[in-house]
Amino acid sequence: MNLAIDAPAPAAPDCADDGTWLACIECDETFAPFEDVRYTCDECDGLLEVRYADPPTFDEFGSGASADGPDRGVWRYREALPFDLGVTLPEGDTPLHRVPRIEEAVGVDALRIKHEGMNPTGSFKDRGMTVGVRVAKELGVGALACASTGNTSAALAAYGGRGDMQTLVLLPAGKVAAGKVAQASLHGARILEVDGNFDACLDIVQELAARGEAYLLNSLNPFRLEGQKTIGFEILEEFYADYGTFPDRIVLPVGNAGNTSALYKGFRELVQAGALDVEQVPKLTGVQAEGAAPMVEAVEEGNDEIRRWEDVETRATAIRIGNPVNAPKAIPGIRNTDGTAVAVSDNEITAAQRHLAAEGVGVEPASAASVAGLKKLRRSGVVDDDERVVCLTTGHLLKDPEAAYEAGGDPEPVPNDVEAVLDHLHG
Ligand code: F0G
Repeated sequence: MNLAIDAPAPAAPDCADDGTWLACIECDETFAPFEDVRYTCDECDGLLEVRYADPPTFDEFGSGASADGPDRGVWRYREALPFDLGVTLPEGDTPLHRVPRIEEAVGVDALRIKHEGMNPTGSFKDRGMTVGVRVAKELGVGALACASTGNTSAALAAYGGRGDMQTLVLLPAGKVAAGKVAQASLHGARILEVDGNFDACLDIVQELAARGEAYLLNSLNPFRLEGQKTIGFEILEEFYADYGTFPDRIVLPVGNAGNTSALYKGFRELVQAGALDVEQVPKLTGVQAEGAAPMVEAVEEGNDEIRRWEDVETRATAIRIGNPVNAPKAIPGIRNTDGTAVAVSDNEITAAQRHLAAEGVGVEPASAASVAGLKKLRRSGVVDDDERVVCLTTGHLLKDPEAAYEAGGDPEPVPNDVEAVLDHLHG
């Protein structure tokens, strides 16, 4: 129940540091935030959450109160974060695109695309990394690590490099899109390719972190989610500025379910602060690929826990995940906001990727899953025609050039001659 949408603002325990502490979402045990390296609860191994004695209201965002904090992007929300400024490139402040043709085709009152692919390394992971690397500095660690389907590794490498730290990434061999491996490589990460899927990589890197090899910056790390919750704040503020109301629904792709958890947490904090009514919280709607849909299965069957899928497959390699570790945070988020979860086929994902690209919005396959999911839910009547919806697109088109080539048209070879080119065009 401690993830209830209307839970009151918590009272600070003795271990709090400047009004910030860690709490277990399962047993409520609390911990000092920056004394020891810790990813899960010492008592019950449950997931941890960062808590604040004084959750902020919209009025406190970007107040300019801090001399060195920027007035844009993630750190504009410093009142809702554990620090005033982190290792920054900078990140956040991404566009909320209008897509009138998709809006019309889907048949909803309003549709906007929050394009997180416009972050410095091309995905929403940057928002989590700017906070996570700041915490790593506070803890005094020198090396960072993650398992990744690609984007986290690119962000870890870039922010770790910026913070002058060593970085180690574990990737599922042969299953990470080229752009992401290129980024991790050039930004200086040591890359280990594991003969197994993402979930196996995460098992190994968790063990490496437990043995003190490096500080773990997967979304299991609660501080990552603090940065990512600012996506929700930006959406609410931008949407309200345009429509005078908040969106009814936010549709997003789900892999490890960190982002779903992060958005829910941000909204709960606004409710705690009295800045948002429970009825105003957008319905969180998760989308997975049919070949990797354990969250959808759990939501459809009404289970509190997910069943780990050992064999996962999808063209949307970013969300090729069978054991979403943040499910205990994300499932309440979906349920308590009256949201849902839906699985889409790879062909539906590619069709949505083309649809977005035709309106100038270039996204990688996993990102297009959100729009594919919305289309499907609209067709089945789960989403009403009078809804105002924001779809999250999480990564840039260039992350996965191969998928883009496959979804797009082929280049046509022509001779080096104007007349021949004209013949080719009109002949
Ligand atoms: N979209 C993209 C482009 C992603 O890279 C990811 C996750 C997700 C959606 C799902 O987000 O895990 O918070 O539910 N990528 C991770 C990675 C797993 O390693 O880059 P989630």
